[in-house]
Amino acid sequence: MSGTVQSALAAAAARLAGAGVREAAADARRLMAGALGAPAQRITPMAPEPMPAAARAIFDAHVAARLAGRPVSQILGRREFWGRSFIVTADVLDPRPETETLVALAFEGTPPRRLLDLGTGSGAILVTLLAEWPEARGWGTDVSDTALAVAARNAARHGVAARTALRRADWFDGVGGPFDLIVSNPPYIPAGEIATLAREVRDWEPHLALTPGPRGVESHERIAAGLAGALAPGGLALFEIGAGQGAEVAALYRTSGFADVTLHPDLDGRDRVVQVRHGAAATQAGRDDWPNVEPR
Ligand SMILES: C[S@@+](CC[C@H](N)C(=O)[O-])C[C@H]1O[C@@H](n2cnc3c(N)ncnc32)[C@H](O)[C@@H]1O
Repeated sequence: MSGTVQSALAAAAARLAGAGVREAAADARRLMAGALGAPAQRITPMAPEPMPAAARAIFDAHVAARLAGRPVSQILGRREFWGRSFIVTADVLDPRPETETLVALAFEGTPPRRLLDLGTGSGAILVTLLAEWPEARGWGTDVSDTALAVAARNAARHGVAARTALRRADWFDGVGGPFDLIVSNPPYIPAGEIATLAREVRDWEPHLALTPGPRGVESHERIAAGLAGALAPGGLALFEIGAGQGAEVAALYRTSGFADVTLHPDLDGRDRVVQVRHGAAATQAGRDDWPNVEPR
């Protein structure tokens, strides 16, 4: 034994803060929960308890990795999203709490029969929707094979693999339809801003997941161009956007022929999601013959 949980936590938070880690206390708690194998909400009641030596060794290694810049989710190999634990590796974006705004909006709508998640990454959005909608089938695309492999593991982990099809695709290229619901959290950070991001994002998360090009709206331009061919009549589409992109991205979808376009804010009051409703008749036949990526 070496000190208490509380003393180890306080020392680690101070070291992380001293090294410039922005969420030092919160990160220390997540790393402690991982080291103790306990849920984060158990850390406060456990604070006065002696720190077991084995957990201490794990915690010290976690803190050293964090001090080297590695993000907490990659150290622990997982992240909580909409109440579920998702596998996270260096091949996928660490699912962000603000993306739960898009998920909440999806759940306000009618459960779809067929849904598509463009740029599925870890599968956090797709798997969450399928887990809550047992009648739905879901398709997930990404240009990253390694990301698709992580999504497959998460689909298996949460019991939705049999209803999930994952496919390598460049936005809508080769993707049929129609889908009742299309969601995406595409890369939207202007390339020139990457250098200004926090180290754990800039140096550790895949740049393919962060930026689509110099203007930040290039993904939405591609998605807007293909949306009418894939969204079912009366269907709903929800797309995450970056801060300050609302007016420009909404205009993109309007210019692509969609009259019903709405912006929704996140919990901080910033425009975060563009919602598009399709009033016109879709043209393509259904296609559900995608091969599954086998979970590893
Ligand atoms: C911001 S991440 C979102 C990941 C996940 N959906 C989430 O919300 O946590 C964007 C994802 O889009 C993928 N992506 C980038 N360019 C793409 C393209 N041209 N076609 C399809 N997916 C793409 C990236 O590999 C990445 O997984």
